[in-house]
Amino acid sequence: MRHELEEDILEVLVAKEEIISLTKKLGERITKDYKGKRPLLIGILKGACPFMSDLIQAIPLDLTIDFMAVSSYGQSSKSTGEVRILKDLDATVEDRDILIVEDIIDSGNTLFYLKNLLLSRGAKSVELVTLLNKPDRRTREIEVKYIGRDIPDHFVVGYGLDFNETYRNLPYIGILKPEVYS
Ligand code: IMP
Ligand code: MG
Repeated sequence: MRHELEEDILEVLVAKEEIISLTKKLGERITKDYKGKRPLLIGILKGACPFMSDLIQAIPLDLTIDFMAVSSYGQSSKSTGEVRILKDLDATVEDRDILIVEDIIDSGNTLFYLKNLLLSRGAKSVELVTLLNKPDRRTREIEVKYIGRDIPDHFVVGYGLDFNETYRNLPYIGILKPEVYS
């Protein structure tokens, strides 16, 4: 039988209680900023799922949701910022106020591409919300309006974040033991 997931965690970086309080604060800011509007929240599969689920319940507005799945092309195309769309939206974005919901922003490449794509499709506005931000890793100049918190440059898993598709179901965010991926 497979070992316990917890055994691979070096340290809990963001406990469940902190995730709840960060999400509540983000929800309050978004609710205030989007009062009177009908935002479309777009969750980026699969990592943003737990955060998306908790975040929308912290925003008591008339909103709609949709999902996209994307994957980065190889290293060579990083310069163009192009990402591959694995699952596109069901909704049309024309004239909508959009909030892209991410689990973590690293290089910023994915969101740089998606923001421009949605604007080119006629979105009225596009803002970004992420639970976690790794500022030291950024290679793209992008404005992220809503950030739960910054974290140092560690590889983290849990609460949606994976390593090889594992650990997404941990209820907290933890630093993965380096021996797991080296
Ligand atoms: P970016 O385009 O480099 O900003 O990539 C962001 C994506 O990389 C996130 O949506 C995650 O899927 C993944 N990612 C970045 N850092 C981590 C991490 O520490 N753990 C797990 N996934 C990560
Ligand atoms: Mg992701």
